[in-house]
Formats: sequence, C-alpha cells, structure tokens
Amino acid sequence: MSATLIDGKAFAATIRAKVAEHVRHLRDEHGLTPGLAVVLVGEDPASQVYVRNKGTQTEEAGMASFEHRLPVETAQEELLALIARLNAAPAVHGILVQLPLPGHIDAAEVLNAIDPAKDVDGFHISNVGLLATGQKAMVPCTPLGCLMMLRDHLGDLSGLDAVVVGRSNIVGKPMAHLLLRDSATVTIAHSRTRDLAAVCRRADILVAAVGRPQMIPGDWVKPGATVIDVGINRIPAPERGEGKTRLVGDVDFDSAVQVAGAITPVPGGVGPMTIACLLANTVTACCRAHGLAEPEGLTA
Ligand code: GUN
Repeated sequence: MSATLIDGKAFAATIRAKVAEHVRHLRDEHGLTPGLAVVLVGEDPASQVYVRNKGTQTEEAGMASFEHRLPVETAQEELLALIARLNAAPAVHGILVQLPLPGHIDAAEVLNAIDPAKDVDGFHISNVGLLATGQKAMVPCTPLGCLMMLRDHLGDLSGLDAVVVGRSNIVGKPMAHLLLRDSATVTIAHSRTRDLAAVCRRADILVAAVGRPQMIPGDWVKPGATVIDVGINRIPAPERGEGKTRLVGDVDFDSAVQVAGAITPVPGGVGPMTIACLLANTVTACCRAHGLAEPEGLTA
C-alpha cells in the first residue's frame, strides 16, 4: 500500500492566503502594514536564494519587506548596531538574521540582541524558554509548519508516540516541545541513540531532521505512521545526466512510502511551509505589538 502524500506546497499556499487576508484586514481596519526585516551577512549562495524568496513572498502577501545585505567582513558591533535600529523601527514587526553567520560573529549574541517580540524565528532565549515552559512564544518556523501539517492530517495528537530524529536548536528541540504541548509522548533521538531503528519503529509520528540523505529506510517506519521529512539534501543524480543532482530528504522516500500512512515528499513537503510560517509569525508579531486579535490558525 502507498502512503497518502502530505502536500506542503498546497498547504503553504493556503497559509499564505490566510496571511494575505489578515494583512488586508490590518490595513483596512487599523491602517497597519506588517513589516519584515531580513539581514544577510556574506554571500552564501543558498542563503541568497532563501532571502530573495522571503522578500518576494513577503511582498506578495501585502507586507513590507526590508532587506539588509552586509559584506562578509561586517564586524559584530556593526551587526548589533543594525539590530538595535531595527528593534527601534516602528515599521518593522519581524526581524530575521539569516543563518549561518560568518565564523567571526557570535551568533548567539546576535540572536539574543533581537527584541523577543520581533523575533519571528523564535531563536531568542526568551522565546526558547517560553516555548519550553508552555507559554505564549514566537515559535520557530520549520517546526511550526510541521506541527500545522500534523494537526491537519491527524487532528488530536494527544497520546501518540512521536519520535524526533535530530536535536538541533532550529528544528529538533522546538519540534519536541511543540509535540509535548499537544500531549504527544515524545522521544528525541540523535546520532548517539542506541538502536535508532527500534526507536523509530515505535513512532506513530516520525519527524526526521538530521540532514543526512535518505538515512531512514522504510523498514524503520511503523506501518501506518505519519512521517514528516525535514531534510533537504542535494545528491548526485547521474541518471539525469552527467553532473546532475536532485533533492532528497532524510527519509528514503521510495521504501518509506510503501509502509507509512502519510508522508511529506521532498521537495514539496516541509520546505514551502517554512517561509509561509515566517509570514504568519510576522503578522502575529504585528498583532501582538498593537494589542490586536491574532489571526486564527496561524499560530501554534
Ligand atoms: N538558515 C536555515 N534555516 C534557517 C531559519 O529557519 N532561520 C534563519 N534565520 N536562518 C536559517
């Protein structure tokens, strides 16, 4: 039997439409335009693509986009001064500093300099702590997108066995907290986990976020499980011609799709949800800053 495909591309389009609708409401009823500032230091090609896509989708949703591209040699103090200006700017409701930052910059200090109310990435220690203690936080975009897809597909998550493979601050840890908040029974597995196959086979919900191409085979998947593949890995694809590549996830899709109940493809699964959730977080931040009702279905 073949699993249901969870279509992140279509789901992200519905999120963006809801965001655009709320943006119109904020403009027409309150004279407000949510604004997102994105800061990119250096010229990492993948980061440049992400930042361009963020800017385009922000404007398509009717919001204001502010891009700050700084040279790779930018000093820490200069970056902190920019963040201080953005923190103080009334037109800016969300601030995102694209990662990774160049090696000479202390990323933790930079992320913690962002006003937590404008921290649409949810990486500031205040937001990390609020999420971990079950309080109202800004929630990291990729795990938020995964949670939305899980709720949409499964409804109530309470009591389900969830296994998150990967313990990063960007995905694994916040994902585990979100699943706990929805009363799933959560295990975080990682590279040192003993008998990872057996741990994965227990999962009603399996979230793979390790960044290793196709490392989770179908026979690690419990029959009927819901599989969320966060990995985006580029591998050689000689079958497409010399020097060609293709994108694959952390799950071996061809074998997992035979066993799972539902699965996100790569590309077209989690990927498109991340920017959609960034737009959602920006609207949420704008509403909170002005003491207005938050949009429904766009927060955790
Ligand atoms: N680089 C890769 N993923 C992310 C993300 O979610 N946020 C930021 N700021 N940088 C990233």
